[in-house]
Amino acid sequence: MELSLIVRAIIKKRRTTSPDHFNGKPVDKQIVQEILDAANWAPNHKTTEPWRLFIFEPNKVKNFGKLHAQLYKEHTPENNFLEKKYQKLLHRADKASHVIVVGMSRSNVPGLPEQEEVAAVACAIQNMLLVATSHNVACFWGTGGMCYHPSFKYAFGLEDKDLMLGFIFLGKTDNDDLEDGKRHSSIGEKIKWM
Ligand SMILES: Cc1cc2nc3c(=O)[nH]c(=O)nc-3n(C[C@H](O)[C@H](O)[C@H](O)COP(=O)(O)O)c2cc1C
Repeated sequence: MELSLIVRAIIKKRRTTSPDHFNGKPVDKQIVQEILDAANWAPNHKTTEPWRLFIFEPNKVKNFGKLHAQLYKEHTPENNFLEKKYQKLLHRADKASHVIVVGMSRSNVPGLPEQEEVAAVACAIQNMLLVATSHNVACFWGTGGMCYHPSFKYAFGLEDKDLMLGFIFLGKTDNDDLEDGKRHSSIGEKIKWM
């Protein structure tokens, strides 16, 4: 198949799949390695390569849940604490094969705006999602729970200047027939030819 057709097919095929629909089977490490390598080829201004990836492998994904739930418990005032939310965070990754926590390490290049570093890491994430999709690996980019709480980035050794951009759940699903994606409007309604 022509390369551009393949690229466009993968872009359209990528879907957010809730980890609830994962089946707990592992993704080959070789494939995960390819997914990680793709992150490194994202565009980035001033070659800062600001993506930082922390990977929980099979048998360790539950540690991600434990950490997330523990941070929620530690940093939520008692009167706001919800046991249901705690349990959800605790078990969110149970059926995932891998969880990749994605941070942005802010460079000290003078004059480089923060949004450019965030943009570069978002590109790295999309690269990973597309390679995952090309291997029929189900994926989910989540930012819920404690993602943006400072304790979360500190737990991964990131600093105040850095940002957490989310966690990518990778897994297998029995439902390989992904629904078509949904968009509120076509690209025609979001563009203006100048
Ligand atoms: C920055 C970012 C954060 C997201 N966080 C969540 C999240 O916390 N929970 C969730 O269910 N989906 C999350 N998503 C996935 C979106 O819900 C999803 O991309 C959107 O519904 C479009 O569906 P699609 O990815 O299948 O095209 C996030 C997506 C992005 C780009």
